[in-house]
Amino acid sequence: MSSPLPILKATPGDEALVPRAQFPLLKNNPELVYLDSAASAQKPAVVIDRLTRFYESEYANIHRGLYQLSEGASEAYDQSRARVARFLGADKDEIIFTHNATEGINLVAHAYGDHNLRPGDLILTSLLEHHANIVPWQLLKERKRLRLAGIPIDAKGDLDLARYEMLLSREPKIVCITAAANTIGTVTPLKTIIAMAHRAGALVMVDAAQAAPHFALDVKALDCDFLTITGHKLYGPDGIGALYVKAGILADLPPFMGGGGMIRSVSLDHTEFADGPRRFEAGTPAIGAALGLSTALDFIEDIGFEAIAAHDAALFNYAAERLPEIAGLKIIGAPTEHIGIISFTLDGLHPHDIGTLLGESGVCLRAGHHCAQPLMEHLGITGTARISFGVHNTRPDVDRLVDSLARVRQMLR
Ligand code: ALA
Repeated sequence: MSSPLPILKATPGDEALVPRAQFPLLKNNPELVYLDSAASAQKPAVVIDRLTRFYESEYANIHRGLYQLSEGASEAYDQSRARVARFLGADKDEIIFTHNATEGINLVAHAYGDHNLRPGDLILTSLLEHHANIVPWQLLKERKRLRLAGIPIDAKGDLDLARYEMLLSREPKIVCITAAANTIGTVTPLKTIIAMAHRAGALVMVDAAQAAPHFALDVKALDCDFLTITGHKLYGPDGIGALYVKAGILADLPPFMGGGGMIRSVSLDHTEFADGPRRFEAGTPAIGAALGLSTALDFIEDIGFEAIAAHDAALFNYAAERLPEIAGLKIIGAPTEHIGIISFTLDGLHPHDIGTLLGESGVCLRAGHHCAQPLMEHLGITGTARISFGVHNTRPDVDRLVDSLARVRQMLR
């Protein structure tokens, strides 16, 4: 499906990759500079239109009614699952719809962890992780009396692979790793990490929430065991995410939640569960959001990851060149490979003050610990201000940011 307005690919960074006019919120707020796509992406009109069309003329619950509307909604929902599978290089039956990436990780911690890990087993996570890829494992650790360790990072913000190798000699059962860090943008060498984990006998859970809007992920080429994404960062609706589980693992995975939709038959004292992903989708799912996600994936793939990477790089390089013009500004981390995210601190200023003052001049960014307190602690800071790029951003957006930062610096001198 193609987008209704032209997509500009010619000059990465000078112009938006997708014009602001395609994003109603940005079109309606021409002065707004939105540099917070890592927190959540703005929604293009094609996605909003898909939701409207569904609720205005196609809405019914799925897999329940025998009438035409319900059959149509069921078919569209199933097609959305197939669309997500195609996006990740998976088979349709390996894709579980969740409400977000966090739910995907919790699902694995419960359905896999509760049933397969034994007291004393080791789980590895890393210092780059969002709390979503730490806390569910800590809870599992408490439930099952396990051990949890973090893969360290080096001074640039890259994973320390030598230390990882050493940790693998302690025979962890599962390695839980981000594909791209939400704070400093580090892209982790997933293929290497996964191959090393498998050689050591561990499974791998990939948190691809931040990576998925920036580069292609092919679960078969990566050979990961679990991988989770979230719709709202992919220019899709909130309240929808997906979890990939390798077929051989999914077949034996017990359910996470019980209820309607995930069963084959129920008596008062026994339930036979449905096969495949539906076993993990108890209750009425986010039907409209799943359809919206499917349209969002069309939107992204129409743009193309090559163009997205070039645009990210152009804006990143431009921001990295201009930000140091501000006295006392320090960019945090210098990872070898990164997505379009930059975290920085400003001498003498709390990140929240930076965020609030920039917000008052119409520049939106995230400030604070970014749900990554172990990383902040390691860096010896309480938080950062963070900018993150989307397909609608331009160099003039970076100029507005730098001008606003200069004014903040002046004001609080
Ligand atoms: N995980 C999102 C972020 O990094 C909310 O901002």
